Amino acid sequence: MPKVKFIGGPTEVEVVAQPGLTLLEIAEENGARMGSACGGVCACSSCHAWILEGGDSLDESTDAEEDRLDMAFDVRPSSRLGCQVRVKETDLVVQLTEESLQTFLNEHPEHREG
Ligand code: FES
Repeated sequence: MPKVKFIGGPTEVEVVAQPGLTLLEIAEENGARMGSACGGVCACSSCHAWILEGGDSLDESTDAEEDRLDMAFDVRPSSRLGCQVRVKETDLVVQLTEESLQTFLNEHPEHREG
């Protein structure tokens, strides 16, 4: 089973993940701060993440995902939407974007520091 490491935010989260789950599902189950303003239906860009390692193992993005990424900030070649990426058998390193971290805090103000 693949390992998924989320970096960004106050703590690094590394988990053994079930193949077939989305990055957003894995993040939500394990306390990684990935935003999900639309609830994971590819209608926002708040789950935007950069796949630093293992990205070649993933299915290519759909036109719908690309259209949503056009709305995101700081889009890079490694950019994906966490709710659209299903984990395969390969380990991944995922960096949460500032946009995603901010959305998470807006959705979960109890996690704000200070
Ligand atoms: S959570 Fe809105 S596009 Fe992924």
